[in-house]
Amino acid sequence: MKRKLGVIVSSLTLTSMVLSACSGSTPTQAPAETKTPATQNTPAPADTTKPADTPKPAATGGKVEIFSWWTGAGEEAGLQGLIKLFKEKHPGIELINAAVAGGAGTNAKAVLASRMQGGDPPSAFQVHGGAELNTGWVAAGKVSPLNDLYDQEGWKSKFPKDLIDMVSKDGSIYSVPVNIHRGNVIFYNKKILDSNGLKAPTTFDEFFATADALKAKGITPLALGDKEPWTATMLFENILLGKLGPDNYNKLWTGEIAFDDPKVKESLEAFKKMLTYINKDHAARNWQDAAQLVAKGEAAMNVMGDWAKGYFTTDLNLKPNEDFGWITTPDTSGDFMVITDTFALPKDSKDQASAKEWLKVLGSAEGQDVFNPLKGSIPARIDADISKYDVYGKSTIEDFKKSKLTPSLAHGSAAIEGFATQANQIINIFVTQGNVDQALKTLKQAAEANGIKK
Ligand code: GAL
Repeated sequence: MKRKLGVIVSSLTLTSMVLSACSGSTPTQAPAETKTPATQNTPAPADTTKPADTPKPAATGGKVEIFSWWTGAGEEAGLQGLIKLFKEKHPGIELINAAVAGGAGTNAKAVLASRMQGGDPPSAFQVHGGAELNTGWVAAGKVSPLNDLYDQEGWKSKFPKDLIDMVSKDGSIYSVPVNIHRGNVIFYNKKILDSNGLKAPTTFDEFFATADALKAKGITPLALGDKEPWTATMLFENILLGKLGPDNYNKLWTGEIAFDDPKVKESLEAFKKMLTYINKDHAARNWQDAAQLVAKGEAAMNVMGDWAKGYFTTDLNLKPNEDFGWITTPDTSGDFMVITDTFALPKDSKDQASAKEWLKVLGSAEGQDVFNPLKGSIPARIDADISKYDVYGKSTIEDFKKSKLTPSLAHGSAAIEGFATQANQIINIFVTQGNVDQALKTLKQAAEANGIKK
């Protein structure tokens, strides 16, 4: 079955992502450029350029070095699927997997920056659509436009227009999206909730009532693994979304709503309360270790992007709706926190022809349908084969079409990298100290310092 993405998606959507994505000049400095609001969330008009008539033979003797942070459980299987497909199609091209471990690019981003600066770029690198790409690598002039490739492959009508906008600046397209992850999800241990007569919480009130009931039974309500601080930032951004709603959440990134807004304060207070329900050893765990607490029945719930779903089904062989369930984070049922993994082509990399073959594989329907069922994400393309996705994937594909879309701060789309880094530090301090006023003040200062203003 084919699906059409983006037709029904609401109108306040990736516009804000695009707006925030288009302010910036270097990866660490905030600029004030703005862009005409994007159009509706509908697929781009059909492409008139036909793909090449006869397939070209695979290049031989080439070499590609693929840079990502997909190593280990929950991360690697999808990448390996793409690599296998690439090797089948291009036996003559040597592929080097240069992945650097660490969730959300914790270590990879620094390694990439030093390689790019040192004149040793990989052939293609993982980068989130939105600010991370546009105010980072595009503004720094480090990546090649890919319009020709999009024309040649007929991609302009195969990806939702808003997604193309997220990876574009001033009319040029700079990367190829391989997936869409959802960030505002609670994964829960179904047996724990069922056997205690509890329903998955949909609101903040329900969340705290459920958490109290679990705590009273000696069960850890919420698993957190913030050894890498982005996981706590993710929890916080989902609380912001629930408390502010999607329209106002999006205004945080354009500076129309400031970080000392009463709703941000309320969010921090809710966050502080949530932190009273987490596992004691949270600071020693990474995201997989936290998700594992839920898998093993040692904690009830975990707020995580749906790469945790890939980890559960691909690595731990758990069954959706039997071993684990899912629900959107409190008060965000009509919203979709978008995280999109894309690959870009460094301007001065060697063997751009072979690198483009890699991009073609990950931008193809075949590639996306190999990668995403393993990774837990949904395809970025609108013509993927929905029968390849499990019940979680199918429902997420449907949700994406009808939800309000919001960009993730923790995963690079919402704001310039400099702010995201400072926010991680501020949230990390907040998790240990719980000082609401201090967090409000420092978030506001960080936003101003990074040019996030009206
Ligand atoms: C995100 C990325 C996902 C997943 C996750 C955990 O930033 O978009 O694909 O890898 O980090 O590492």
